[in-house]
Order: sequence, then structure tokens, then C-alpha cells
Amino acid sequence: MTTYYSEELIQSIIEANDIVDVASGYMTLKRVGHSCKGKCPFHNEKTASFTVSQEKQLYHCFGCGAGGNVITFIMEMEKLPFVDALKFLAARVNMILPEKQNQPEDHQAYEKKKRLYELHREAANYYYKVLKTNAPARDYLRQRGISQETIREFGLGYASEEWSRLTDFLQTKGFSITEMLDSGLVLVSDSKRHYDRFRSRIMFPIVNPRGQIVGFGGRLMTTGENAPKYLNSPETAIFSKSYELYNLNHCKKFMEEGRLLIVEGYMDVIALYEKGIRNTVAALGTAFTPFHGKILERYAGEVIIAFDGDSAGRSATEKAVTILKKTNLNVKILSLPINEDPDSFVQKYGYQGFVDIIAKALTIVEYELELLKRNNDLSQTDGRLRYGNEAIKVLRQLETSVEIDYYSKMVAAETGINQEVIRREVIRSKKRQSDNPSQLMAVTASDIAPLKIPRAYQKAQELAIRYCFKRPEIIDGFPIDYLTDRLYQELLLTISEKQKTGIRIEVNQIMAHFDESEDVKKIVELMMNEDEVSRSDYQDALEIMNRFYNEAQLDRLSEQIKRESTNGNDDEVARLTNQFIEIKKKMKENGRH
Ligand code: UTP
Ligand code: MN
Repeated sequence: MTTYYSEELIQSIIEANDIVDVASGYMTLKRVGHSCKGKCPFHNEKTASFTVSQEKQLYHCFGCGAGGNVITFIMEMEKLPFVDALKFLAARVNMILPEKQNQPEDHQAYEKKKRLYELHREAANYYYKVLKTNAPARDYLRQRGISQETIREFGLGYASEEWSRLTDFLQTKGFSITEMLDSGLVLVSDSKRHYDRFRSRIMFPIVNPRGQIVGFGGRLMTTGENAPKYLNSPETAIFSKSYELYNLNHCKKFMEEGRLLIVEGYMDVIALYEKGIRNTVAALGTAFTPFHGKILERYAGEVIIAFDGDSAGRSATEKAVTILKKTNLNVKILSLPINEDPDSFVQKYGYQGFVDIIAKALTIVEYELELLKRNNDLSQTDGRLRYGNEAIKVLRQLETSVEIDYYSKMVAAETGINQEVIRREVIRSKKRQSDNPSQLMAVTASDIAPLKIPRAYQKAQELAIRYCFKRPEIIDGFPIDYLTDRLYQELLLTISEKQKTGIRIEVNQIMAHFDESEDVKKIVELMMNEDEVSRSDYQDALEIMNRFYNEAQLDRLSEQIKRESTNGNDDEVARLTNQFIEIKKKMKENGRH
């Protein structure tokens, strides 16, 4: 590298950035004796084996072996090369680094991001000032019960109805049109005029856990117009809605016992804050994603899902539960009355009312049993039996015999089935499940994966993914279940998510979504592979994957059939055999093409 900074300068940057402070921007650290501990941001873990020593200004993970100083931490966390990590840390403490000549290309990416952060900071200040002088907007917030203090705390603002106020303002601050367009806050019309994305809207700055403003949400004061009620920043170099969580920056300070609440909307977060409930985050206008789950794992131990009580909220809850079940988080579900959201509920029943329903939040098992009850008529014998059978499948995720006992008793009381029978069935099916984890879930290839992946299959997958990089438009139709590696699945989902926003896909941006360096290494390796992939290579790869996937399913089924027939479960044998035949048939048909 041609860029050299003196040892002294580097040392002074390290000294100015306390490692505990810096790391706390990315995770929850608890003081334990002389050091601080937290859940390692570089690998998945349940226990906190990531240790930061303030005294030594070093970190080390006893789980995965990661370790280093504040610079390597930022290099890993922000995926920055050394010099950019230095700049990042210098900027963090307002130090100026002398610019050196011959900045390599990729360092410009960081400079660009820095400008975008600055632009957002200016825009937020601007909107905040506009709100101060706009009486209708202030009245609106007052009507919704939001105090001046909360407005300040969240930096709420207002975008006036004119077409280009922000654009003009940013221009006076020296930002170029390109920078404005890159920020997504300024748009360009067919007639090549520049105008503000957000107009006539209450503005909610979205702040990342490092305190940087990365985007905005805006709410119309009067709905019913042609425009959507809420509008968010688009995907940009510094913002991705499947990654950010509203209020995560704040809520870190208010999490008691590592617990936080997930709500649907900006206003839910703010109304709860106003009433004294401050450990909440919201996903930003889209569904809760696996990335959100991963991020929360770093900060929290328990999450409570508190979505709207309507049917949309309920189905969003089901999806979030599915995602959060795969994390190490302890998950609970709060159900609100059908016409309420956390905002309206806390307005009606106040702080205590909300605390009371939090106390009644359901565990996953309770929640899943509730769902089953909703779908089965327990006043009828067959409804009770169906419920009983399904409930056994739910109960097998319980870990301790005390819990199994407790819930078996509950289901027994609800169905009239003997408690001992239920308990025995749960334990038996638990055993079966551990023999074969993919039995009940929709089987994806990654469930089968541990069986050992043939080399040809591995290669086919890699090739297919590389083809997807080239032709991202095919990803939506891609059979993601065929991928044996969750990382690959996540990768394609990320690209497809980005793509829906019409944004060109930058390799760097995609990597920013993966925080484990092993993952990044694997992805980089795939991306760096320049070998040609043709359409017919891709089709061959799909065929190989399809065959493996089906064969693995057949293996799994024949095992099950064997086991069920020794147990004498004829019905089950018949059902599984049918599945077996179906797959065979499908394979034969495919073979013919
Ligand atoms: P809601 O419609 O439940 O809004 O959308 P809300 O939070 O209750 O808002 P108020 O009380 O009417 O002001 C929940 C979230 O979904 C996203 C926003 O992030 C919102 O906070 N959303 C909603 C959009 O992105 N666009 C929309 O048009 C509507
Ligand atoms: Mn609402």
C-alpha cells in the first residue's frame, strides 16, 4: 500500500477510541470483573464469550478465536480496509487525517459514504427546523400526544409541501446533485428537474446504532391523498430497510435484562417512548427479516413481538416467529385486541396497562397452541383430536421434562385426552425429531445437508449462484430450497430484496449484510471467481441440484417408512409411501426432458 501514516498517528487514533465505547456501538457489553463481555458479533453464539479488555484495549472471543484491537475490530465490523478503518476511527473522534496522494479506487467508496452521512445529518437538521416553524405540523404531533421533549429525542421534523426546498437547501450546503440523488432524498423528474422525495410529511430520521442518520421515514399528515401514508428512504449505499431497525440506537440504553419489544411502526415506538416504555424497535415498513433477527441477537436476550392486532399484524407475527425461532433469542408474543396497535393501546390504557399485557405475553409454545385452537373447533370430538395431535408436535420443541409435563397437563384438560398419553407421545416424537430433524418442517436442502454433500452438488450450487450474480433477474424464480447452505440462501434473498428496489447491486453492499468473516470470505470467493458461466451450464447445474434434492428426500422418506412400519403406524406408512411415489414420478418426468 502506498498510503503510510506514522506509528504515532496510528497510536493516537487508537488511544482516542476506547475499545469498549467503540464495540458498544455494535453490541451490548456487560461489565464482568475487569473486562466486558458480550455475544460475539463475529459468530453465532448463545453464551457471551466475546471479551473486551479496557485495560489492554483488546478484544478476544473464546468461542471463535477472533481477536485484535480497535482497528481490526472496525475493519471486521465495517468491512473496511486498514486505512479506511483508520479514517473511520479518526472521524469518530473528530480528528483530521492528512490526505495522502494516490488514494486507491476503493477508498473513494468510504469517502462517498461519509458524505452521505453528512448529507443526512444536514437534512435532518433542516426538517427539524422546519417543524419548529410549522404550526399545523406541530399541532398534529401534539394531537397524537407527542411532547416537545420526545420530538427532540427522536429528532422529528417536517418536510413542507413545496417541491424542492430540501434540494435547494442541500445545494447551499455544497452537496452535488449526484450526492443528492445517491441519498435518495432528491429525485429527478422526466423533464430533468430535481425535486424532494418527501413533501408534506412528518419526518422520522432513521439512526443506526452508531448514531449516524442513514435514512428517513415520512408520514402524511392528512391521509387519503393519492400518496402512501408512509414513505421511506430507498435502498442506498448507507441504508437498507431489511437491515436497519428504527430506534435500535436509543433502545440499547433502555433494555432491562436484555429484553426488547418489536413493533410495526414509527408511531408505535414513539408513543410507547412517550409513555415510558423505551426498549422498542420497529422494522421499517417491510417484513421483519432474518437480518433483523441476526442483529437483535447481538443486542438482546429476549424479544417480545408486539405487532398490530389486525389480521395483517397477525400474519406478520407468524412470519417473525418463524424467523426468530431460528435465533438464540428467547421469543415472546404479545397479542393486542383486534383494532389496536401499541400506540392506540398505550393511549387508552397508559403505561400500566401496557406493562400488564407485556406480562401476559405468550411463549412460542403457548402462541402456537393458540393458533391451533383458532383453527380447530374444540367443541367437536374430531376438532379436539386434531388439536391434540397437532399440539403434540408443538410440544416437542420443549426442552425440559418439567415444561413437557406442564403443557401436557394443559392440553389434556383442553382435549380430554389422558395426560400421560400426551406426555409419552411428545417424548416419543421428540426422539423421532432428533433422529430426523426435517420430518415435519418443510424440508429444505439445508436440513438434509449434514448428510454429506457430494462434490458435484456443491459445485452445481456454486455455479448456479454465480450465474445468479450475473443475471439477478432470475433469482426470484430460483428454487432456493435446493441450496444446502443457509448462507447461500441468505445471499440470494439479499440480492433479490435489493433488486426489488431497482438498485444496481454492488458487491460491497451485499457483503455489508453478512457480519461473519467466514461468511464474507465464502461470498467473496464466489464473487471473485471469473470463470464463464453460460445459460446451459446453469441449466445443467439446476438439474444436478434437483436430482440431489429429490434423492435426499427419497432417502429420508424411506427411512421414515421403515421406522413407521416397525411401529405399526399403517396410516403414516401409507401417507409417506404416497409422497415417495410422487417424488419418484416427478423425477421420471424430469428425466424425460
Ligand atoms: P401502520 O399503518 O400500522 O402505521 O404501518 P402506524 O404506525 O399505525 O401509523 P399511524 O398510527 O397511522 O401514524 C406500520 C408501519 O408500516 C410502514 C411504516 O413503517 C409504518 O410505521 N408503512 C405503512 C409504510 O411503509 N407505508 C405505508 O403506506 C404504510
Ligand atoms: Mn397507529
